[in-house]
Amino acid sequence: MRQRTGAHRLCPLISPSQRAPPRLHAPRSRASPMARWAAVCAVAVALALLAASSAAAWLHEEFTTEGNVRAGYDARGQQVASIVLDRQSGGAFRSRRSYLYGQFSVQIKLVPGNSAGTVASFYLSSGDGPGHDEIDMEFMGNSTGQPVALNTNVWANGDGKKEQQFYLWFDPAADYHTYTIIWNDRNIIFKVDDLVLRCFTRHADLPYPGAKPMSVHATLWDGSYWATQRGKVKVDWSAAPFVVSYRGYLADACAPAGAGRPLACPAGTGRWMRRRPSAAERGTVAWAKKNYMRYNYCDDGWRFPKGFPAECSRS
Ligand SMILES: *[C@@H]1O[C@H](CO)[C@@H](O)[C@H](O)[C@H]1NC(C)=O
Repeated sequence: MRQRTGAHRLCPLISPSQRAPPRLHAPRSRASPMARWAAVCAVAVALALLAASSAAAWLHEEFTTEGNVRAGYDARGQQVASIVLDRQSGGAFRSRRSYLYGQFSVQIKLVPGNSAGTVASFYLSSGDGPGHDEIDMEFMGNSTGQPVALNTNVWANGDGKKEQQFYLWFDPAADYHTYTIIWNDRNIIFKVDDLVLRCFTRHADLPYPGAKPMSVHATLWDGSYWATQRGKVKVDWSAAPFVVSYRGYLADACAPAGAGRPLACPAGTGRWMRRRPSAAERGTVAWAKKNYMRYNYCDDGWRFPKGFPAECSRS
């Protein structure tokens, strides 16, 4: 993704040329309307700067950002990070820490209205190099009223042709919903709110992301070439800027502690480390597959003329 950071306009209300000259001895009550206005704006600027820096502090503690990312609070005072996509730039944030196994969740409110061509994401990645590992949740935008699709994928050692896509059974832009990735040494579980949507099982003889630490990423970008009806529908820039909001991020996860040392894990790791889908959760996987699946790599014979990947024929 190529990005350019836009200039920040901190106070559109005032520019240096508008500032009234200092009036050292003028009694307050006799200050000209212009001077009073300037003083009010200066205070407003100071407050805005203060708010901006403290509002952003929590975001920068946990993440590095690129492009258009805004930190703020919602009406209930909860921290919200928003990524903005316009013609010049998208945006991304990425955890400073890397993890090896964990449970990662975030609440996301997707781009409302015409989001065709846009792709918002929440994913884990070991980096860009060849042989990288990745676990993806990507939201493929659509025209107003048309269903958004959630693309899930797993990459192991640079091989990532394992997509399953699902339509969502609610409007993901109307409100926040919780998206969760549970990654342990036996399986990867994708959840939407309380429902397990997909489970990717480890097979001893097949590639599985289990050796490389990954960081957590969120992005919003122009995926026109791919996202909507196989690239037929492009981003409508007259509807820009597009905004996707994230809140309630949780990483309950182990971190590598250095070569030859055991992982550093939080207390109670078994919660997710021993997690396998229950019989009921296998039921929701089947339900989602039957009613909401849009694409399954294991059904795409055109793509795998020499035979499906081995895991397709195992349970
Ligand atoms: C967008 O809507 C069209 C028409 O309903 C549908 O065929 C398509 O699968 C939807 N999703 C994407 C990502 O294109």
